[in-house]
Amino acid sequence: MEMNIALLPGDGIGPEVIAQAVKVVEAIGKKFNHQITFKEAITGAAAIDAVGQPYPEETHQVCLQSDAVLFGAIGDPKFDNDPSAKVRPEQGLLEMRKRLGLFSNVRPTFTFPSLLHKSPLKRERIEGTDLVFLRELTGGIYFGEPRGRNEQGTKAFDTCVYSVEEIERLARMGFEFAQKRRKLLTCVDKANVLATSRLWRETVQRIAPEYPDVKVEYEFVDAVAMRLVQWPKAYDVLITENLFGDILTDEASVISGSMGLMPSASIGIKTKLFEPIHGSYPQAAGKDIANPLAAVLSASMMFEYAFGLMDEAKAISDAVNLSLESGIVTEDLAEGDKAYKTSEVGDWLASQIAKS
Ligand code: IPM
Ligand code: MN
Repeated sequence: MEMNIALLPGDGIGPEVIAQAVKVVEAIGKKFNHQITFKEAITGAAAIDAVGQPYPEETHQVCLQSDAVLFGAIGDPKFDNDPSAKVRPEQGLLEMRKRLGLFSNVRPTFTFPSLLHKSPLKRERIEGTDLVFLRELTGGIYFGEPRGRNEQGTKAFDTCVYSVEEIERLARMGFEFAQKRRKLLTCVDKANVLATSRLWRETVQRIAPEYPDVKVEYEFVDAVAMRLVQWPKAYDVLITENLFGDILTDEASVISGSMGLMPSASIGIKTKLFEPIHGSYPQAAGKDIANPLAAVLSASMMFEYAFGLMDEAKAISDAVNLSLESGIVTEDLAEGDKAYKTSEVGDWLASQIAKS
């Protein structure tokens, strides 16, 4: 197969972890005979420094012309400490999601048998956890108008807006995911307080009869936050709005033992995008110590979701499992003896794929 992949390494550890994902994708290309072309483009603080905006038009065109986008991370502390900065790297991420129509952010949480003891939660509670969030990504309070401050600057406001159409397309994707999995869908909302949440619930209730094989549960977001750490195995597919999804997926990601492990896919109207759920981790940037596995597993999701190539996806996740079992891990996971460098883990995975 021919594949055109846009590479957006971004800020912080983004370039280092994406470099390892590229090694792995190239190894897969060789092994399975695919013609893979990469095209790199700038985003985030790196793009602000170069051209004054975090998501330049040229980068947008590279994404539109690609079959899939591999994205690293965005964010730089020099902007976090300056609330008056007019352009911020994160605006680039939001603009990219909106302009590429990436309305559904697929964030799985699963455990690795060899890392169960690394989780902050007890083994018996998490063993076998396998859930996936579909976070709505281009609506809600992240984008709603009006937003800003009153004239005196003494009040600030954001607006949460959802249309039936936005809810329905995400919910339908949730039902379809559930049909392919354990057939349980949880609609996460705050319908006891918020009008938008009541529209979510009403919309999901209206379309549910079209998916009679899927059992639907409705749960308030605060209760889900609690049950996620009490009994994560209770969940299969969860659908939720943008802000709730942002918060709950960070919470869920530590179940697996390290935030450096969880990948994500963003699916929508135009191209598809794959990114680790961790941020730019600026303290580690350039040190060759960051865990590349979330980026590598994002590449695995890319083969599955963008190209429908399950064997390729599995070859990557098998290599990752083997690296964990063999202790070929970065310092966040290393026990006592040796911690491998980011680049060494990438090299090991690529050579493992070549000989598997
Ligand atoms: C994420 C991040 C972003 C978000 C930030 C960087 C804008 O936290 O992808 O979860 O809030 O969506
Ligand atoms: Mn987040």
